[in-house]
Amino acid sequence: MPFNNRVAVVTGAGGNIGRAICRQLGAAGVHVAATDVSLDAVTKTATDLQALGYDVRPYQQDVTSEENVQSSFAQIVAVFGKVDVLINNAGVWCHHDGGCRHFLETISDDEWKRIIDINLLGTFHCMKQVIPGMAERRFGRIVNLGSIAGNSGLPGAADYSAAKAAVIMLTKVAAMENAKRGITVNSVSPGMVARGDATAPNNGTWLGRNGLADEIARAIVFLADDDAGYITGVDIPVDGGRILGPHNFNINEEGKFLS
Ligand SMILES: NC(=O)c1ccc[n+]([C@@H]2O[C@H](COP(=O)([O-])OP(=O)(O)OC[C@H]3O[C@@H](n4cnc5c(N)ncnc54)[C@H](O)[C@@H]3O)[C@@H](O)[C@H]2O)c1
Repeated sequence: MPFNNRVAVVTGAGGNIGRAICRQLGAAGVHVAATDVSLDAVTKTATDLQALGYDVRPYQQDVTSEENVQSSFAQIVAVFGKVDVLINNAGVWCHHDGGCRHFLETISDDEWKRIIDINLLGTFHCMKQVIPGMAERRFGRIVNLGSIAGNSGLPGAADYSAAKAAVIMLTKVAAMENAKRGITVNSVSPGMVARGDATAPNNGTWLGRNGLADEIARAIVFLADDDAGYITGVDIPVDGGRILGPHNFNINEEGKFLS
C-alpha cells in the first residue's frame, strides 16, 4: 500500500517547494505536520490545503534551535502519534541583507554560521529527533534537500554550497547507519526553481528552463513512499540536466545539431 496511513513532517513548509511537498503528500492521504520558522507562512500553507480536504497542520519550528526542534517534535508526536516521513526542506541561500551573491572573502562569520546552521545543523537536528522512533517501528523515510550548489558549486554562495554538500554526505552516512533499521535516507538536489506556475528560460540547463516546485516535490514524494524501500543513500538531481555539465551544444527539438 503506498502511504499506508503515514505521518510526515515537512520543514520549511511555508515556502515554495515546501508547499508543493505538503500538497502532494496531502493529496496522497498522508497526515502532514507542516513546520516553518514563520508561523504565518506555514499557517497559510495548511489553511489552503485543508480547504482541499487534506490533513495538513501548521507548527512553528526554528530548525536551528535544538530545544525548539525537540519541543515541536514532541508536540507533533503527541498529536499524530508518530513520524514516519521526514522531509528536511527548510533552507536558505541569501544573506540577511537580501543579497544572494557574495564572494567568499566578504562573508562574515555570522552569515556563514547562519547559512550553515539553517541548512545543515537544522537537518541534523530534525533527523536526530525522528530516527529513534523510526528505528523502534522499523520504518522510516527521510528525504533531505540538497542542491545543485552542493554538487557542482555555486559561485557567490560558498557558504550555501558547502552546507548543501555536507547535507548530501550526511544523508549517505545516515543511510548506512540506518539501513538495517528499516529507515531509508536520501536527498533531492534541485537546480533553479521558478516561483509560481511559469518556468523561466535557463540556458545553463539541457532542458533550457528552470524547474517548477511541483517537479521537485514529485521526486521527494516518490522517495518518501513505502514503495521506495530499496533506494537509500542516493542524491537525485532534479535540475533539467544541469549536473550533466556545460551546455555547449546547440541541439534543436528535432534532434539536429544547429552548429
Ligand atoms: N529554489 C531553488 O531554486 C532551490 C534550488 C536548490 C535547492 N533548494 C532548496 O530547496 C529547499 C526549499 O527552497 P525554497 O525555494 O522553497 O525556499 P523558500 O525560501 O521558498 O522556503 C524556505 C522556507 O524555509 C523557512 N526557514 C528559513 N529559516 C528557517 C529556520 N531556521 N527554521 C525553519 N524554517 C526556516 C522559510 O521561512 C521558508 O518558508 C531549501 O532547502 C533550498 O535550499 C532550492
